[in-house]
Amino acid sequence: MKQPIKNKERKFFKRPTATPTAADAAQAAAAAFKPGEKGKKTFALLRGMHDRLPKEERYWRAATRAAEDLAEYFQFGRIDTPLLEEAGLFVRSLGRSTDVVDKEMYIFDDRDGQKICLRPEATASVARAYIGSGLWNQAQPIKLWYQGPMFRHDRPQSGRYRQFHQVGFETFGVKDPAIDAELILVAFDFFKDLGLNVEVRMNSLGTLEERARYKIELINYYRTKRSYLCEDCRQRLTKNPLRLLDCKEPGCQPVKDEAPQLLDWLGDDSKSHFMKTLEYLDELGVPYLLTPSLVRGLDYYAHTVFEFYLAGVAEESAQMALGAGGRYDGLVEELGGRSAPAAGFAIGLERVVMALHKQNEAEQSPLLKPPAAQVFFAQLGDEARRQALLLINQLRGTGLRLAFNFFKNSLKNQLEAANAVKAKYVLILGQKEVQDKTVIVRDMESGVQEIIDQKKIEAVLKRKLEKN
Ligand code: HAM
Repeated sequence: MKQPIKNKERKFFKRPTATPTAADAAQAAAAAFKPGEKGKKTFALLRGMHDRLPKEERYWRAATRAAEDLAEYFQFGRIDTPLLEEAGLFVRSLGRSTDVVDKEMYIFDDRDGQKICLRPEATASVARAYIGSGLWNQAQPIKLWYQGPMFRHDRPQSGRYRQFHQVGFETFGVKDPAIDAELILVAFDFFKDLGLNVEVRMNSLGTLEERARYKIELINYYRTKRSYLCEDCRQRLTKNPLRLLDCKEPGCQPVKDEAPQLLDWLGDDSKSHFMKTLEYLDELGVPYLLTPSLVRGLDYYAHTVFEFYLAGVAEESAQMALGAGGRYDGLVEELGGRSAPAAGFAIGLERVVMALHKQNEAEQSPLLKPPAAQVFFAQLGDEARRQALLLINQLRGTGLRLAFNFFKNSLKNQLEAANAVKAKYVLILGQKEVQDKTVIVRDMESGVQEIIDQKKIEAVLKRKLEKN
């Protein structure tokens, strides 16, 4: 008998018929799509998005492993925040006139009418979690790290995507140059562990008040040069004057070179904090480049800021930062929490993977070497294949690294596949071995073969591999 539909469910099924929704349109488009038919439209990737394919996986895994190892050693706890956040969180944190908020946020109303966005970065989310989950009330510093996708509706190009991934490290609750230096060290070690040679560019933005005084000076200076400036810089002059120092237009460079420098406007405390950070880095042997034009694109920064670039590479793609960060002492209070100093950085993983690819680092970084298979499992015939799968599954957890390919039928092809994965031994299972409950072990170097009991596979192989 049919169950009556409850009221709540009925409401769900009742769809407005007059005005088609976006979901209806999407459904219609999907219905029109017939895979495999000639001349039919196929679905393409959205602009600025990319599929991560298995051939890149070892780079991603190496990068993730490097971050995990560093997080564990330097005692950062893992935090994962949602991809969706209230849009206001980023407007308040990054600043209304920053490019990320002004032009790049994926923002929409959800079904409750709330303004939601896909997170463009995670520092603001982590600060929200620090306040909301009571981490501020625990022994400080609180050290957190994360990894995951971020979304910015930026102009896509090589190394710049609309969905990209960051690994980030953040420290809350302590204002000490040792924290700034530790963060820069962790990032520097991350690149070093992957065999990437990077340059650290550094600057100090001082306090909000120092920066405000400097901005007046900067605007006064730039106003006198208005006629030499590019269109973007003219807009920056009123919207976001610090970004004038970021301009890459050749025509603006002479004006930029002569501009007043922020470091000259810092008070004693800010200068001392920055000097001590640099002294730590000298002590640690982390090379850095003082870069007065480095201002970062987000409003929450104060004091130390830094960016990482590939060293000694002139190509344009190398002019994109691999990572960046700095101190953001005012953010927690700005978001409604009890004042807490903080600092951190984030690294763009797509750019790291690209750099690893380019440098073809396989030889240099041990992290990038895929472990070779020790043993290849070859089978001949349907019956053998069935039993081989059972045996392969039984060998899982023994620590032996196995490879196999059930879709190559001849022994010759399977031995070639074994060679390709550099297997030292091949297990061969034919009709006779299935009946006898045995298996042939072939030494790939000498070609010598022996027949062993299936129950002894693990012990025999381990003994042989130990001898090697
Ligand atoms: P950010 O400079 O906006 O800083 O991004 C950090 C890194 O993410 C960049 O250096 C770059 O490698 C990568 N990245 C940014 N946008 C893209 C994109 N469209 N495509 C590919 N990679 C990209 C932040 O996000 C701050 N939350 C960093 C931070 C953490 N500051 C303090 N703590």
